[in-house]
Amino acid sequence: MIKLDITKVAPMVSGADVNALEARVAEAQKALEEGTCPGNDFLGWLHLPTGITPEFLAEVKAVAATLRQECEAVVVAGIGGSYLGAKAVIEALSNSFQWLVGSNGPAILFAGNNIGEDYLSELTTYLKGKKFGVINISKSGTTTETALAFRLLKKQCEEQMGKDMARKVIVAITDAKRGAARTCADKEGYKSFIIPDNVGGRFSVLTPVGLLPIAVAGFDIDQLVKGAQDMEKVAAAPLAENIIAQYAATRYLLYTKGKKIEILANYQPKLHYIAEWWKQLFGESEGKDGKGIYPASVDLTTDLHSMGQWIQEGERTIFETVISVENPEHKLLFPSDDENLDGLNFLAGKRVDEVNKMAELGTQLAHVDGGVPNIRIAIERLDAYHLGQLIYFFERACGIHCQLLGVNAFNQPGVEAYKKNMFALLGKPGYEQETLTIKARL
Ligand code: PA5
Repeated sequence: MIKLDITKVAPMVSGADVNALEARVAEAQKALEEGTCPGNDFLGWLHLPTGITPEFLAEVKAVAATLRQECEAVVVAGIGGSYLGAKAVIEALSNSFQWLVGSNGPAILFAGNNIGEDYLSELTTYLKGKKFGVINISKSGTTTETALAFRLLKKQCEEQMGKDMARKVIVAITDAKRGAARTCADKEGYKSFIIPDNVGGRFSVLTPVGLLPIAVAGFDIDQLVKGAQDMEKVAAAPLAENIIAQYAATRYLLYTKGKKIEILANYQPKLHYIAEWWKQLFGESEGKDGKGIYPASVDLTTDLHSMGQWIQEGERTIFETVISVENPEHKLLFPSDDENLDGLNFLAGKRVDEVNKMAELGTQLAHVDGGVPNIRIAIERLDAYHLGQLIYFFERACGIHCQLLGVNAFNQPGVEAYKKNMFALLGKPGYEQETLTIKARL
């Protein structure tokens, strides 16, 4: 089970301070459980893990098997919550040099999360002549970035593989009834999965949104779900025995004491996208009404040579949460060297991870000394089971923290502003007045 260490947020926040928040946390948990919080029509993620059946997982795995069998590459088209969870888990579980060592399944590529012409051009060029499939993911079914990528990929897939085969290798994951992605899937007869109405994008990694791409990549979705289920059981416990609630309460207390930025740090490069997923989860959920901790991230020790100075001595508005992997998958020892020109023989015979762990401990102590409170989350191994735990841990902590802050965790009204301007600038039908107004500003 994941372990949480909050002792190094003292003296700013003590264990007693956290315990004193018990009634407020209980109230927050009650509001989530009883559905009395703002945004209560989006609470489907709360007991999603324990509601997942073996039959549902078998259906996801069967579709994944078809894509693995028929395709050399599978493109996952989606943005925000419709891609980051899958990307994070796949990156965390994959070989760091996947694209060089190859794998026993299709290459998993991502699109629809940007509008970079070079990106899309290089992607479609790479796919030329290849047997490829597409998983088109959009809850609303109308997101521009995703729809644009899907338009290109659908055409190319049909041209290269024929309409009948394209029908077999294009899968839609979208709303049951609404949106262009649903209309297209029904008209073309694609295999489709439904994103439950009551599960928002950034809480959807344990629906087909995350599970199908992860299964296509060849990873164990049963274990991922089992990890989340086990963490869901922890979530009901009172604060003293509940690491999820303790994390939420600690970050809330730090925020109220002026720590407005949380830096999620990892010491394993494979966790980079877990931080990207985490940033969306927390950033989009709590950054509203002029409130919210700004979620940032660093990959360490890499970024100690770029951001380390700022963290150590910059403005004291930050705290740090470290995800530490206790046991790496591989074992590598530093060799001894007769000449010892680099002076590193004192490390000969030691595991690489021992040095990494000392770097982690040394950094933690240095940052604490520099006025950066430190939360540590330790996971036993970087496998599907522990990632499942971590996913539910953060989702639930986010839900609790947003109740403490007093914001609606489940909407994102601010995201509409850029879309409105973009559509006005592009002259989208229906935006005539906005087009006139925005052009007058240029
Ligand atoms: O968390 C969210 O709701 C958002 O980040 C969405 O996932 C993102 O905007 C993509 O939306 P959609 O799945 O409707 O294309």
